[in-house]
Amino acid sequence: MITTSGLTKVYRSRGREVTALDGVDLHVREGEVYGVIGQSGAGKSSLIRCVNLLERPTAGTVTVAGQDLTALAGRGPRAGRDLRAARSRIGMVFQHFNLVSSRTVQDNVELPLEILGTSGKERSRKALALLDLVGLADKAKSYPAQLSGGQKQRVGIARALAGDPKVLLSDEATSALDPETTRSILQLLRDLNRQLGLTVLLITHEMDVVKSVCDSAALMENGRIVESGTVSDLLATPGSELAAALFPVGGDASAEDRTVIDVTFHGDAATRPVISQLSRTYNIDISILGAAMDTVAGRQVGRMRIELPGRYEDNVVPIGFLREQGLQIELVGAAAEARVLVKDGAK
Ligand SMILES: Nc1ncnc2c1ncn2[C@@H]1O[C@H](COP(=O)(O)OP(=O)(O)OP(=O)(O)O)[C@@H](O)[C@H]1O
Ligand SMILES: [Mg+2]
Repeated sequence: MITTSGLTKVYRSRGREVTALDGVDLHVREGEVYGVIGQSGAGKSSLIRCVNLLERPTAGTVTVAGQDLTALAGRGPRAGRDLRAARSRIGMVFQHFNLVSSRTVQDNVELPLEILGTSGKERSRKALALLDLVGLADKAKSYPAQLSGGQKQRVGIARALAGDPKVLLSDEATSALDPETTRSILQLLRDLNRQLGLTVLLITHEMDVVKSVCDSAALMENGRIVESGTVSDLLATPGSELAAALFPVGGDASAEDRTVIDVTFHGDAATRPVISQLSRTYNIDISILGAAMDTVAGRQVGRMRIELPGRYEDNVVPIGFLREQGLQIELVGAAAEARVLVKDGAK
């Protein structure tokens, strides 16, 4: 649904150059909620602004719903019109809501429809339906100043939906909100994603946001995507930074004569007593160093850091047992180094 290829953005100001995006290849599938996470200055906002051509990319292409926006942006006035039409199919939600304070809630939602040339009657019908959808039917005649932060963001979302977008882009839509309100706005985005089949690309610096609503995620550093994939695949990827941040299991992995492993459970395996089976089958004592359990993208996922007595070479068979149970195993500390030497063919 959204594909960027070699997307590059270099800002030039006062003789200085800043490369905010450095060849970003992003692929967001239709109907998914995709989270981009990264530290301040990583290039997240630049990415989202280039996706809807609010910012002109220095190089690379952006395709949304099969339409090459960068090609449209490059051509004459007729193409400019096509670009505006294409852009109206991309909804945008902002951190600070960007509502017009002199307009009522309803008139804010109608604004993009005015620009599209929709008739007054149809504008009003549509705006009221959208306000109903976001749970603000009773606030149509209020002004932004009379609303709470969460309500303002709901208006921002209703406005973003006015052009019947297939894609919703959100840049830190919840970072000005308290945790409770954040949850309700995320739930709304998730509901809209499900009800309308809307593809959502959201930018955040909060792992919790990724955890609670995203199907897929990417980690940005210095203008590049350094990791990406579905959240469940990331959790199953050894050494994934995103997985570690989603599930910080903790626990000291430095013991030389012990084998420390991180075990990731999905769905069914999360509820089976695999660890006690392991202990009984091989007659070994297992220490749990850290654990985390959560629901990610609607699925129960758990991670556990456990310690087995003995070096890695002594534990090849029990680790094989865990893998056979459908668990993802990642060796940590000394065990990870030992595996390189032993080469047990582990995947
Ligand atoms: N208009 C601009 N002119 C010059 N440099 C810019 C401009 N916008 C962004 N930058 C620079 O580009 C880099 C990426 O900025 P960007 O706003 O995309 O980061 P971000 O990941 O969204 O950060 P944050 O989490 O703080 O919002 C930064 O070094 C920033 O200073
Ligand atoms: Mg930003």
